[in-house]
Amino acid sequence: MNVNIGNVYIKKTAVLAPMASVADCAYRLMCKKYGASYLVSEMVSAKGICYNDRKTAKLCTVTDGERPMAVQLFGSEPYFMGEAVKIVLQYSPDIIDINMGCPVPKVVNIGAGSALMKNIRLAAEITESVVKSAGNVPVTVKIRSGWDSHHINAVEMAKALEESGASAITVHGRTREQMYSGKSDLNIIREVKNSVKIPVIGNGDVSDLKSCLDMYEQTGCDLVMIGRGSYGNPFIFREIDSFFNGVEYTPPTVEEKMCVMLEHIRLIISMSEKSEELAMHEARKHAAWYMNGYYGSAKFRGRCYQLSSYAEAEALAEEFISLQKSRESQFN
Ligand SMILES: Cc1cc2nc3c(=O)[nH]c(=O)nc-3n(C[C@H](O)[C@H](O)[C@H](O)COP(=O)(O)O)c2cc1C
Repeated sequence: MNVNIGNVYIKKTAVLAPMASVADCAYRLMCKKYGASYLVSEMVSAKGICYNDRKTAKLCTVTDGERPMAVQLFGSEPYFMGEAVKIVLQYSPDIIDINMGCPVPKVVNIGAGSALMKNIRLAAEITESVVKSAGNVPVTVKIRSGWDSHHINAVEMAKALEESGASAITVHGRTREQMYSGKSDLNIIREVKNSVKIPVIGNGDVSDLKSCLDMYEQTGCDLVMIGRGSYGNPFIFREIDSFFNGVEYTPPTVEEKMCVMLEHIRLIISMSEKSEELAMHEARKHAAWYMNGYYGSAKFRGRCYQLSSYAEAEALAEEFISLQKSRESQFN
């Protein structure tokens, strides 16, 4: 089954969340390969784009293997948001997403991200400006449940954004005050779904097939978005995709996991403009995530943070596999 966001068709399986400093091009390509049906870029500063910042421009790049993909913008000024869109369109994103959910002080203190949950009128003006500049490229907005537990206004916000021309809304069921603590509230996502006609993407705490199906069933949302559940685990998309296609899913063996980890590291190195050693700094956290949840993984994760070449990563992967095999043979 497909979901229509404007003129873009997205398979109703699971989509990858925008994650600054995590879900870069290499990460997105890995998730896409394993079945993510739609990708969103790391958030990009509208002002950074307007002031021609080279690093910012790189964040807007959409490669052919990533489509359908959205470029996500953050900012608090309708004019700059509209101008930034005109520049971003040169990168031919399938969708433009606006960040109205980011809780970090650097973003909130300039009135952007989740600070816009406190100013629905400005949020609507920003959306109108972006929609106007985007032409026939659909515009979506990602929000939280509200600013804090006394101001849960996702429904009011979503209605205003729909009115302003948004083609879909993503709801992360936490307030800004919660940051990432507590639990994502499925009720508020359901309330938003019941209040607007445009597609709603449910987000928060989906970590496996079961929690994905719970999100679909309990909220009635049109798509499910996964962030942290994909850390070192692009297979989560394969599991969900297999389910919706009626295909039997076999979880990866430790060998397969390490093989995919090395593939991911090779991609990071090949896409980096830096030396292999510096690219490995970027790869370290990903390597550690792939080793999560196994016997002895705490020690290995620590060693991941010392990796400085691909050859070292290969050797560590082999050692890790041997440890798991010897552990298995003890119990068989
Ligand atoms: C490291 C990290 C970076 C994030 N960066 C962004 C971002 O750039 N834009 C955005 O809208 N949300 C961002 N988020 C929020 C996620 O997209 C998502 O809403 C949140 O993690 C909840 O989903 P999850 O429980 O599936 O991780 C980020 C989250 C994390 C953990």
